[in-house]
Amino acid sequence: MLLPSLVKFFYLVGAVAFVWGLRLLSSPDSARRGNILAGIGMGVAILGAMIEPIVNASNNYLWIIVGLLIGGVVGWLSAKKIQMTAMPQMVSVFNGLGGACATVLAAAELTKFYENVSPMTTGELGIAVFTLLIGAVSFTGSMLAYGKLDGIVKDKNVILPRHGIINLILLIIVVVLFVWLTIEGHTASIWLAGLFLLLSLIYGVSFVAPIGGADMPVVISLLNSFTGIGAAAAGLIYGNQIMLVGGILVGAAGTILTVLMCEAMNRSLLNVIIGGFGSTGGGGASTGTDDQVAKVATVNDVAIQMFYANSVMFVPGYGLAVAQAQKTVKELDDLLEANGVDVKYAIHPVAGRMPGHMNVLLAEADVPYPKLLDLDDANSALKDTDTVIIVGANDVVNPAALDDPSSPIYGMPVLEVWNAKNIIVLKRSMSAGYAGIQNPLFFHDKTKMLFGDAKDSIQKLVQEVKNM
Ligand code: TAP
Repeated sequence: MLLPSLVKFFYLVGAVAFVWGLRLLSSPDSARRGNILAGIGMGVAILGAMIEPIVNASNNYLWIIVGLLIGGVVGWLSAKKIQMTAMPQMVSVFNGLGGACATVLAAAELTKFYENVSPMTTGELGIAVFTLLIGAVSFTGSMLAYGKLDGIVKDKNVILPRHGIINLILLIIVVVLFVWLTIEGHTASIWLAGLFLLLSLIYGVSFVAPIGGADMPVVISLLNSFTGIGAAAAGLIYGNQIMLVGGILVGAAGTILTVLMCEAMNRSLLNVIIGGFGSTGGGGASTGTDDQVAKVATVNDVAIQMFYANSVMFVPGYGLAVAQAQKTVKELDDLLEANGVDVKYAIHPVAGRMPGHMNVLLAEADVPYPKLLDLDDANSALKDTDTVIIVGANDVVNPAALDDPSSPIYGMPVLEVWNAKNIIVLKRSMSAGYAGIQNPLFFHDKTKMLFGDAKDSIQKLVQEVKNM
């Protein structure tokens, strides 16, 4: 009697820690604490699961502890080693493994069912088959997403002719099999369930294959929500409350994030899933027409302009992450503030390569949160800004999104930096950004380019401002 109550108590503590941790994650100030709290919650939940009477009776503690140790060490080492720029890849892999877990659990339960070891009602069978499907799609889909993000897999090698139709046919077969396996129960064989699993794994790859370029973050958070739903469904199979709560939280968070990102990129989810946008993955250059020449600034020009400005707005982008320039930017910010300049940061929701990428980097450099303006606030403030310093951003400041209907990013909300009085762009060359398209901003009357690695350029600016 005492043991089940203790298990429930541990699960309750775990669930509260998850919810409270999520809440703390909503602000960069408290995000680190939120992460730690949710991690502790997971530890408590694992303890609860370990003292479950069924686990106790099976006496498989050696396997469980060895598994925990291997998983814990691999997770710890990979999280320590990972570069900030490769964070989306890590998220994909971890997410895929979550999907694989849900599938393995469902496969184990279904095997017992087909071998007449444990009976299931039609409802339970439906949940188990659904878990098998969603976990498998999430697993292989996330692995392909990892390969694409890491550059190991090229879009052109995985997109087949008429891919949309192939996906539709696969989806129909999978849905028919799902219904068949659920309704027919025992008369459907274990082999059919095996075929269903195989097709679900293939569908995961095929579903992600045509999605590329700038749409990858959306698909990652969609797969994240699949994994959450898979975990929640596995929780239903086992009647395990903490799996259910954890799964629902991940599923809901992933779904909300997917919707928010679609809005930020002005794309419908269907449009993302059908794919194609930005799958060229960069490589182009921002070359102007014959009469368009980009003006080049010197470090001295830029330093003077910033030093005598009333207000400066930094616009960080992916290049800030590549150059790891966040702490140097903060140093420059401090120097300017000490000279009476009002310094702010304009944060585009999809700047960088993952949701919240810029917020994380700037929080790491201790930039105070109130200095970070979201898209709408930044666009209002830009009209009164003297100098905008674009640090390795490109697509998120491309005016073609507003005025060129032929542009692939047309309709995406962007930071309207051209409304400021002066624009300085820090990047290494005239290369295009992630969407692989040219940026007319670089040829704008108000724009001057300061070429070089962002950290290097800002270090020089710091030196110059110090000497003033
Ligand atoms: P991008 O458009 O990708 O542009 C980044 C720019 O940074 C490049 O043009 C590059 O030019 C420059 N750069 C790279 N390394 C640099 C360095 N060491 N020093 C200085 N500059 C450097 O970045 P963005 O404006 O942040 O836009 C993000 C894009 O990624 C959007 O298209 C978005 O949809 C997509 N995306 C976003 C996410 C999320 S959720 N944030 C995930 C995946 C994709 P040079 O090579 O000339 O230096």
